[in-house]
Amino acid sequence: MNAFVKLVNIYEAYGYSVQTGLSPLHFPGHSWADIPFTYFIADEKRAAKGGGIAIAEIYFLDALFSHYRPKNIFVVGNAFGWSTLALSILNPDARVVAIDACPRPEEEEGIRLTNQIASDFDLNLIAVNARSPEQVAEVARIHLDGAIDFAFIDGGHTNEQQNLDFGAIKPVAAEDCVYLFHDVINFMLLESFTKIIQETPSLEGHVLFRTPSGMAIGFPQSMKPLIGEAIHAFSEPDAQVQSLLETGRNNITAQRNGNGSKS
Ligand SMILES: C[S@@+](CC[C@H](N)C(=O)[O-])C[C@H]1O[C@@H](n2cnc3c(N)ncnc32)[C@H](O)[C@@H]1O
Repeated sequence: MNAFVKLVNIYEAYGYSVQTGLSPLHFPGHSWADIPFTYFIADEKRAAKGGGIAIAEIYFLDALFSHYRPKNIFVVGNAFGWSTLALSILNPDARVVAIDACPRPEEEEGIRLTNQIASDFDLNLIAVNARSPEQVAEVARIHLDGAIDFAFIDGGHTNEQQNLDFGAIKPVAAEDCVYLFHDVINFMLLESFTKIIQETPSLEGHVLFRTPSGMAIGFPQSMKPLIGEAIHAFSEPDAQVQSLLETGRNNITAQRNGNGSKS
């Protein structure tokens, strides 16, 4: 079964309605930074604060792992388990470990639910209440069988925290580890991503403009034959990015001056 369809089925089976993949244009008054992402509704309330990855981002993961098969996957930011489960479903032979600092009871419930689903569906994963950067090395040592091959960083959304997350994972990661960062564009984390790539000569960096959060990925050249095509397919060419940004700025100026057009 398709990974996204399987995920929706799973959460519904545990009594949650899934809200995901909506367009900001269809729901005026909602934030563009919120509405495309994934939430779990029970008793008309969101079960967790942190939104899960968008449908297009699951589609990206599906593409990324079509040839590339990491063995040890580490996730910072479990929330309600959506991306942790997606990574496990897409990599059935991998061990997946996810941490969440659990600032609220909702994330603790997310840890419990993720582990319950893992047990019920025989998925090789564990979610742990732990904080990055302090507990990354310890959790990886206890729960993984070897160095981290793929890291998904979706925890605290500040430049400082993203640096700390990467800095904690790198020493316990394999040489050819691939690092995927969520929300880099939406939460203005490019400064940290650029610094990470500049200071890590072994990594090549790409911003994945074709993902709703503006994910970014760092990977060694040696991985290019396995993941290069997927990364290319989810990256907008630089010239098109610049042209779109410029057209957008011109449209805003024209609208402010009262002569905007629809196209
Ligand atoms: C956006 S949510 C993660 C969503 C999740 N990756 C998904 O797609 O379903 C961010 C999560 O990171 C957790 N978090 C924030 N700072 C953290 C830290 N320093 N260490 C571990 N978890 C953290 C928050 O509690 C929150 O649940």
